Amino acid sequence: MSGLFITLEGPEGAGKSTNREYLAQRLREHGIDVVMTREPGGTPLAERIRELLLDPSDETMAVDTELLLMFAARAQHLAMVIRPALARGAVVLCDRFTDATYAYQGGGRGLPIERIATLEHFVQGQLRPDLTLVFDLPVEIGLARAAARGRLDRFEQEGQAFFEAVRQAYLQRAAAAPQRYHLLNAAQPLAAVQQAIDTLLPDILERSRG
Ligand SMILES: Nc1ncnc2c1ncn2[C@@H]1O[C@H](COP(=O)(O)OP(=O)(O)OP(=O)(O)O)[C@@H](O)[C@H]1O
Ligand SMILES: [Mg+2]
Repeated sequence: MSGLFITLEGPEGAGKSTNREYLAQRLREHGIDVVMTREPGGTPLAERIRELLLDPSDETMAVDTELLLMFAARAQHLAMVIRPALARGAVVLCDRFTDATYAYQGGGRGLPIERIATLEHFVQGQLRPDLTLVFDLPVEIGLARAAARGRLDRFEQEGQAFFEAVRQAYLQRAAAAPQRYHLLNAAQPLAAVQQAIDTLLPDILERSRG
């Protein structure tokens, strides 16, 4: 038995968490076993790594440290949560995954893609998401939504150029593998985004029962 691995991607304030809840609710109405989780984090230990990654600190974090902590958290998350859930046939809805590493550490920080790909293979083996929803919106709108929530984390303190690079990296990855990615216009009102998600439901339901 193997479940369905769905990831939600996009920059700060794009609506990943809001729509993850929405999609989970719709799937549960159909009796689907849904596991909602997030990265970095998703287990107590991985959430502690998340704090290291997100909390602003006086010491500058080296870019390779950031990359390795992301994959350390991911290894823990895969072992404790994602792989067991998929093995029992659940639908896993994960808020950010390795596409975020390509977008933030690759696009944003400028790390070589091959270095990320090497770690992806080391930590995940052949496992990749079955479907990735990319919530795309202009950088200013996302940052305004995130800022409205209060204190900025270590990534949210980055400037406009960083987030433009993140956005472009997501768009490039989505364009390069259209069978896996579904691009959503996240600048629309929430009701319109949710309508777009509704159109994906029949396919998700069929694949989750497949
Ligand atoms: N389509 C939308 N239109 C207007 N506001 C929205 C929309 N989607 C989400 N929001 C609001 O924007 C804020 C950020 O949404 P949410 O927390 O879901 O984003 P996120 O992608 O999870 O962000 P982060 O990466 O920072 O966790 C929330 O206050 C949410 O209610
Ligand atoms: Mg969120």
